[in-house]
Amino acid sequence: MTMYVVYVFAVLYPCNVYLQLTCTALSNINPVYINQKLNGYTIKKFPAEGLMICARECLVQTNCLSFNFDLTSGGCELNRIEANTSNSPLVSMIGTVYALKVDWVNEITELCQHVNCPPKYKCIVELNGTKCVLVDCGEPPIIMFGNKERLNGTAFGDTATYTCSGVEVFSEVINLQCSNLTGEWEGGRCRRVASCEDVKLCSSGHVDGEYWLYPMVYGNTNRVKIYCHNLTSEAPSEYITLPQGNEHFYPASENIYNEDQITCKTVIRTKLRAGSSVFDKVGVDVETMVIRQTDYQFAQVDWGLNSPYGDARDCSLYHPLCDNSTVGYFEMNTTNTGLVIDPTIEWLPFGWAGQLKYFNRSSANTVIEVVCGGYCGGCKPQSDLRLQIDPDVALDDNLATTVSCISNV
Ligand SMILES: *[C@@H]1O[C@H](CO)[C@@H](O)[C@H](O)[C@H]1NC(C)=O
Ligand SMILES: *[C@@H]1O[C@H](CO)[C@@H](O)[C@H](O)[C@H]1NC(C)=O
Ligand SMILES: *[C@@H]1O[C@H](CO)[C@@H](O)[C@H](O)[C@H]1NC(C)=O
Ligand SMILES: *[C@@H]1O[C@H](CO)[C@@H](O)[C@H](O)[C@H]1NC(C)=O
Ligand SMILES: *[C@@H]1O[C@H](CO)[C@@H](O)[C@H](O)[C@H]1NC(C)=O
Ligand SMILES: *[C@@H]1O[C@H](CO)[C@@H](O)[C@H](O)[C@H]1NC(C)=O
Ligand SMILES: *[C@@H]1O[C@H](CO)[C@@H](O)[C@H](O)[C@H]1NC(C)=O
Ligand SMILES: *[C@@H]1O[C@H](CO)[C@@H](O)[C@H](O)[C@H]1NC(C)=O
Repeated sequence: MTMYVVYVFAVLYPCNVYLQLTCTALSNINPVYINQKLNGYTIKKFPAEGLMICARECLVQTNCLSFNFDLTSGGCELNRIEANTSNSPLVSMIGTVYALKVDWVNEITELCQHVNCPPKYKCIVELNGTKCVLVDCGEPPIIMFGNKERLNGTAFGDTATYTCSGVEVFSEVINLQCSNLTGEWEGGRCRRVASCEDVKLCSSGHVDGEYWLYPMVYGNTNRVKIYCHNLTSEAPSEYITLPQGNEHFYPASENIYNEDQITCKTVIRTKLRAGSSVFDKVGVDVETMVIRQTDYQFAQVDWGLNSPYGDARDCSLYHPLCDNSTVGYFEMNTTNTGLVIDPTIEWLPFGWAGQLKYFNRSSANTVIEVVCGGYCGGCKPQSDLRLQIDPDVALDDNLATTVSCISNV
């Protein structure tokens, strides 16, 4: 295919309604490619009253590099690239002309000819002078796991459609829309499996066990080993499998003063909340990665009752002369889970005479010991127990199952 440049004058093209402005007002000769157009790189389409109007609109818009003009309908299409013989060639289209912005004289933009607006902006002339206004969103972004399918323009309200695919990625169609408020493409994203519900939706036949999930709260990019429980039920739920060292102790014994009101003695009482338990797994809300402190599904009770994960408490009077083994504690250990409890969280006393006796967080933030009690009272975390990615740990691939969303493979 040969591309040829033709200069627009009345001789070649008799004045019709759409070329009229060209015939009368064009002082310089501006080249156009006749009966050709560039497809697929539209910023926007709009009806224009003449070739000059179309050209002018391209000249004032920073992102416009070329344009197509339909001589029959007056349709103007602004393009965000220049045609390129190898990648994006011109195609034949009777009655359409194509032109490059650089070939057109700037004078037709009047006051705007001296104004350089930023990308996505266009220059407009106002009573006072000129102004740059946001008009388009530019090239739609590359989306992780998304294949761009359809794009009809890059102006406000236009839509870019992608299909998502990849091993742990949901097969779905998502749309981004060019926002007139921000000039950015906004909307969906391709998602990797982020919850046990997703594991079910992704493909069938999975049973309870460890899975690699990508919680949204970590940007859907960090892989986390999560145990899916009741996976075949209507309501699967998420747990973190813990190593040894996740246990609570609420003593059944109590320190009380002797008759002298100075010394003290330890007596055994059956306390309502007393008990000791070990958490093999702890429940987690996968949306927020906050621990469900009172989920006892995988807590083994040694004796007595369970206690919320992280709370250390007792019901014992404190006295230097008393037996300190009557102190409540909670020990947490997230070593090798790939997660740590948010290291900024502190434990605060609650209840009657609640007092923190000892607190220690290991340097890697994986082991936390809280010794605390009151009469009755104890210590609780000041906020929800949020889990964070442990930057020091990379877990082996084979510790959990990679979920494939590609069905029937
Ligand atoms: C793209 O589609 C939207 C919605 O259908 C429409 O408003 C817009 O004018 C179209 N843009 C182009 C350049 O065809
Ligand atoms: C065509 O466009 C591609 C990028 O889209 C560029 O790499 C290449 O240099 C261009 N070729 C010509 C001849 O302009
Ligand atoms: C024009 O200038 C006047 C005074 O300089 C100002 O108050 C007004 O906001 C300006 N209008 C525009 C559209 O910029
Ligand atoms: C932006 O678009 C919304 C709907 O798409 C419309 O209601 C609103 O008026 C627009 N705002 C501007 C500043 O154009
Ligand atoms: C979840 O599993 C437990 C046993 O581990 C069972 O008692 C419970 O009914 C299950 N829940 C649902 C919603 O299936
Ligand atoms: C925490 O777990 C790790 C890994 O299983 C173990 O080596 C360590 O002894 C545990 N720490 C405590 C205090 O239980
Ligand atoms: C109990 O603990 C306190 C402070 O933690 C200490 O001063 C005291 O000596 C301990 N008493 C006994 C009997 O161990
Ligand atoms: C705190 O814990 C670390 C490791 O778990 C231990 O090495 C350190 O001695 C402890 N600190 C105190 C004051 O007990």
